[in-house]
Amino acid sequence: KTVIGVLASGRGSNLQAIIDAIQAGRLDAKIGVVISDNPEANVLKRMAGVDIQALCIDRRLFASRRQFEDAVAEELAIHHVELVVLAGFMRILSQYFIDRFAGKIMNIHPSLLPAFPGENAQAQALAYGVKVTGCTVHFVDAGMDTGPIILQEAVPVLGTDTVETLSERILHAEHILYPRALALYCAGRLTAAGRHVNIIDKE
Ligand code: GAR
Repeated sequence: KTVIGVLASGRGSNLQAIIDAIQAGRLDAKIGVVISDNPEANVLKRMAGVDIQALCIDRRLFASRRQFEDAVAEELAIHHVELVVLAGFMRILSQYFIDRFAGKIMNIHPSLLPAFPGENAQAQALAYGVKVTGCTVHFVDAGMDTGPIILQEAVPVLGTDTVETLSERILHAEHILYPRALALYCAGRLTAAGRHVNIIDKE
C-alpha cells in the first residue's frame, strides 16, 4: 500500500472523503499521518477517535518557513510517507520542500485551472461570470496552482448561485475526484512527461 501523508489547514472534508474511499476499498492506500499547520483546525477534531496519527505543526512557533518545512518533512519521513496530499492546506510550499518530494505532492483546487488560481476561487468564478467551473487535482510545483494537471471535473454555475451554494456543488465533485486521482497514483497508473500527466489504461 502507498503511504500517504495529508496536510490540511481547515475543515477536512476532503480528508474525510479520502478516509471513506480507503474504508470502502476504492483506494488502496494507508494514511501514515495527518498534519495541520493550525491548532484550531476542525480537521484535528475530526481525527479524534479515528485510528490515524494526527498532529499539529504550528507555523507560528517557527522562526522561518525553512524551519517549519523541515519539521513537516521530518514528520512525513518518520511516518514513511510516499505521497504528500494537500487537502485544504493554505500555505504555499517553497521550492526547497517541493524538491524534497519531487513529483510526490498532490493538491486539489476548487476551479478548472489555469482559471482562478489562489484564494477564493469560487468567488473569483462568480465574479467573472463563467457558466462552468469545477475542480482540479494536480501535482504541485513551486508556482501558485500551476503544477501538471491530473484530473478535472466540471460543475455548472447557476444564475442563483452564491459563493456558498457554488462552493458546496464544487466540494461534492472534489470528494469524488480526489480519491479517484489518488487511486490512479497508488495503482501506478499515472505517468508524467513534462507538464503532461497520462493515465495508463487498466489491463
Ligand atoms: C476545498 O474546497 C479545497 O479545494 C480548497 O479548500 C477547501 C478545503 O476544504 N483548497 C484551496 O482553495 C487550495 N488553494 P476541506 O478542508 O473541507 O477539504
